[in-house]
This record gives sequence, structure tokens and C-alpha cells, in this order.
Amino acid sequence: MKEITCEELNENAFDLIGKDWMLFTAKKDGKVNTMTASWGGVGVMWGKKVAFIFIRPQRYTKEFVDASGELSISILPEKYRKELNYFGTVSGRDEDKIKKSGLEITECDGVPYFKEARLAFICKKLYKQDMKEECFIEKENIERWYKNNDYHTMYVVEIEKVLSE
Ligand SMILES: Cc1cc2nc3c(=O)[nH]c(=O)nc-3n(C[C@H](O)[C@H](O)[C@H](O)COP(=O)(O)O)c2cc1C
Repeated sequence: MKEITCEELNENAFDLIGKDWMLFTAKKDGKVNTMTASWGGVGVMWGKKVAFIFIRPQRYTKEFVDASGELSISILPEKYRKELNYFGTVSGRDEDKIKKSGLEITECDGVPYFKEARLAFICKKLYKQDMKEECFIEKENIERWYKNNDYHTMYVVEIEKVLSE
């Protein structure tokens, strides 16, 4: 992997997030967990290049993200779609997902990401906020997406490094 700048990224953010999907990976007490995500964004905040990520309270990965100052966002090539589905349907509470997947973790500045990634963002947490029912303007979204009151927590994370294959 070589380090590139955000400006050198030649990708469509809508495809990258919504179609390719992402893996959020973080470390806690020397253990690593990962989950698939397809909602979020990238942009600029407080004069920094950032990503906006959304994690529901019941995700095991949330414990890792909350415990750590940093996390990675890995984008895998299409041939790993099966693994992306696996990481997005099974919880690390029940299985050692990374071990079972056969994929490998490597690190950049102590932050774990996937060796198989075609693109990886090394990120530092800047801001965290739980979504609240009363903040929804389009109330339909509550009924549609939060029947269990499991509102996402939003994290704004600074993109510290972009690694590209
Ligand atoms: C395509 C796809 C996208 C997903 N996007 C998100 C997301 O943005 N936020 C979230 O909290 N869960 C999302 N999930 C669900 C988690 O990946 C899933 O619940 C996973 O099993 C959590 O694993 P964990 O308990 O080990 O953290 C998504 C799942 C899939 C398949």
C-alpha cells in the first residue's frame, strides 16, 4: 500500500460507501473486531478531511470504537463480497470473525486494517453524538429504521492517512 492524499483519490464516494461497502475496524485491549457498513459520508469539517460514520448501539464493534482513539475504514475488492456479507451479518461477540474469514489484519501507526484492502483510511475520532428521536424531521425514518429504538451513534473521524494499493 502507498500513502496518497484525499485529493488524489479517484473514487465516487456514493459508490465507495453505498455499493462497495466499508469495514470499520478497531482495537481494544489487543483484540480487533470489524463490521460492514454502507451508510456514512466523507467531507470537510473543522478544516479537516473527515468521514462521518454511524454505528448502532448493539454492534460489538462499537465497544472497540468507543475504547479506541482510532479506527480504520477498509474498502475491499469485489471478490471479497462474501466476506463483507459475513462481517455484516455475524457478530464478533459470537465468533472470531476475522480468524474465520481467513482475511488478515495489518497495522498502520498501530491502527488495524485489512491487508486485502484496495483502499484504507486511517482515522482519528474527533466527535461522537447519539442520534435522538426528537431530532428527526422526517419522522417516517423512525418507523422505518428504528423500530427497536436503536438509534445510531454518529462519529466524525479525521482521515489521517489514505492508503491505496
Ligand atoms: C451492507 C451492510 C451495511 C451495514 N451498515 C451498517 C452501518 O452503517 N451501521 C451499523 O451499525 N451497522 C451496519 N451493518 C450491520 C453490521 O455490519 C452487523 O450488524 C454486524 O454483524 C455487526 O458486527 P459486530 O457485532 O461484530 O460489530 C451493515 C450490514 C451490512 C450487511
